Amino acid sequence: MSPAEYKNDVGLRVEPVDGPEDIEQAFHCVSEAFGRQAQDGVWIAMNPGWDTVSGKASGAARMVARWKETTSDKNGNPNTVFLKATLPATKPNDERVIAGLAIWVQASCVEGHGDSPDDDVAKAMNLEGLYPGNESEQRYLAQVMSSLHHTRNEVIKEKASQLPPAVMVLDLCAVDPAYQRKGIARGLVQWGLDEAERRGNLEAILEGSSMGRHVYAKMGFEAQLPEIVYHVDEESASRDRPSNLFMRRKGNSS
Ligand SMILES: CC(C)(COP(=O)(O)OP(=O)(O)OC[C@H]1O[C@@H](n2cnc3c(N)ncnc32)[C@H](O)[C@@H]1OP(=O)(O)O)[C@@H](O)C(=O)NCCC(=O)NCCS
Repeated sequence: MSPAEYKNDVGLRVEPVDGPEDIEQAFHCVSEAFGRQAQDGVWIAMNPGWDTVSGKASGAARMVARWKETTSDKNGNPNTVFLKATLPATKPNDERVIAGLAIWVQASCVEGHGDSPDDDVAKAMNLEGLYPGNESEQRYLAQVMSSLHHTRNEVIKEKASQLPPAVMVLDLCAVDPAYQRKGIARGLVQWGLDEAERRGNLEAILEGSSMGRHVYAKMGFEAQLPEIVYHVDEESASRDRPSNLFMRRKGNSS
C-alpha cells in the first residue's frame, strides 16, 4: 500500500500508524471526541474508565491488540488500516501532533476478500474481559453492537454474490476537538475512498453519528433512513445511546 498523504493549508498528513505509540497517542483524540465531547453512551460503555489514567491505558491497549491482529486479503492488502492524521509540530524538534484517527476495514464474507463479520459479538469484542462476570452489561453491549452493525453486516452478506464481493467500512473516525473543522476528518475519509478505489472500486459504508454524518454527506455518502434502532432488553431501554445513520457511497464506476 502506498502511504498516501493529504496535505492542505494546515499541513495535514494522513497515513497508516507506525506502531503502538501512535495508537496510544491517538487514543487521546478518540476519548476526547467520543467521551468528553460527544458523550457517546456506547463508546463510553465500551471503554470503561476512559477518563482515568488506567482506563485510557486499557482502551489504548485494546486498540493496539486489534491493530496487531490485522489480517490481509489475497492480494496482501491489510484488512484493517489504522490511519493517523498529523499536524506539524508546534515547537522545533518536536514530533508531529496526532490530531485524529480513523479505522478502515475491508470486509467480506468471501475468503481472501476481507474480514468476515463475527456472529458472536460478545466473543469478538471480549466482553467478558471488559466486564468480568457482569452478564447484564455484556448482554447489553452485545445487543447494542449487533443493532449498530446490523445493516452493515447485511450489506456485507449481500456483496458475497456480487463483484467485487467486499466493502470498505469506516469503523471509527475521531478528531481531537482541539483540532476540529480544519478538514482532518475529510482527509481521513478521502484516504479510505482512494484506497477503496485502488482495491477494486469497493463501495464504502459507515454508521454516521450526529456529528460525522455532515462530513460524510459532503463526501458523497447517502444516508439510509430511518436511523438505526437499538434492540435492547427492557431493563436497559432508558440508557443513553447515540443517534446513528447507516450511510453508503457507491464506487466511482458503479
Ligand atoms: C465528526 C468529526 C470526526 C469531524 O471532524 P473534523 O475534522 O472537524 O471534520 P472536517 O473539518 O473534516 O469537516 C469537513 C466538513 O464537514 C462538515 N462538518 C464537520 N463537522 C461538522 C459538525 N459538527 N456540524 C456540521 N458540519 C460539520 C463541515 O461542512 C466541514 O467543513 P467546514 O468546516 O469547511 O464547514 C469530529 O467532529 C469528531 O470527532 N466528533 C466526535 C466523534 C464522532 O462523532 N465521530 C464520527 C463518528 S461517525
